[in-house]
Amino acid sequence: MSLRVLQFGTTGQVGLELLRQAPAHDVAVTALSRAQADLADPAACAAGVRELRPDLVVLAAAYTAVDLAETETALARTVNAQTPGAIAAACAEVGAAMVTFSTDYVFAGDKGSPYVEDDPVGPPNAYGLTKLEGERAVLAACPRALVLRTSWVVSAHGKNFVKTMLRLAGEGNPLNVVDDQFGRPTAAADLAAFVLSQAPRLAAAPAGDPLFGVHHFANAGEVSWRGFAQGVFEIALGAQAPEVGAIATADRPSPARRPLRGTLDTRRLEQVYGVTPRPWREALAEIVADLKAQA
Ligand SMILES: NC(=O)c1ccc[n+]([C@@H]2O[C@H](COP(=O)([O-])OP(=O)(O)OC[C@H]3O[C@@H](n4cnc5c(N)ncnc54)[C@H](OP(=O)(O)O)[C@@H]3O)[C@@H](O)[C@H]2O)c1
Repeated sequence: MSLRVLQFGTTGQVGLELLRQAPAHDVAVTALSRAQADLADPAACAAGVRELRPDLVVLAAAYTAVDLAETETALARTVNAQTPGAIAAACAEVGAAMVTFSTDYVFAGDKGSPYVEDDPVGPPNAYGLTKLEGERAVLAACPRALVLRTSWVVSAHGKNFVKTMLRLAGEGNPLNVVDDQFGRPTAAADLAAFVLSQAPRLAAAPAGDPLFGVHHFANAGEVSWRGFAQGVFEIALGAQAPEVGAIATADRPSPARRPLRGTLDTRRLEQVYGVTPRPWREALAEIVADLKAQA
């Protein structure tokens, strides 16, 4: 019998990729949209888990508006921490394993080298703080939960850096991109592929298994936003790639502070799961091909 998966979130980058790839796996997915399960309502979301009694819950929805979270912190906290905690408690009750996503923004970004899972946290903004609270709430409530921290998520869907850069290049204006923030771009498709391929193991693993707890997943290769933009243009536009000027974070003030180097070290995941995330350029080439096919 197929593994029964309950997915929260159907329209985001990761949610869409999960839905797109699920047919290639032996899973029966029930996916709840915002209209069916609003994460602003913890009790309703937890009730969804109790009703469906799945083998695995994947929480692909979150409050992701990083700058707005500075002012909408109460809502961000409910969506990113309280509700994930309530879902995790319901998972523990019905015997479901759980996967949720977190962020490099739980780190201050001043370590000077890539972050491992047990490094001290220090979120530089409200979004990162609510996601950290979510990690803690989930792990406290459900012993069979995987918290997958990731970074710089991109895809051919939704709002993301790749699409924004290509739009700006199309407008033909001079481009200046931040060159002093570093991280690891991650394809939503690779996150989805990882979760779906590991779903049977997660659903079968007992509490205490090293599969659970916090793991880092990001495509391989550290780059600045400017370097990432240059990669996007090289792959998408080849000889027509525009020049990309360098600016500093301080030149582009934003409501939420960003970590300068929140780069995630993924070696724990590579050892425990036996999976090595591929280089970001490879994943990006597929996204660009996807975008061209859509055009
Ligand atoms: N994007 C990144 O760069 C990044 C980096 C690190 C970690 N992450 C984490 O990775 C996960 C997936 O991110 P993503 O990029 O796929 O996010 P995304 O594209 O911004 O999508 C967010 C999803 O959450 C849903 N959502 C928001 N508020 C909701 C609510 N109150 N009730 C129900 N659904 C709600 C959205 O639904 P609507 O379409 O209805 O708004 C959408 O489906 C998140 O946990 C995020 O924190 C993302």
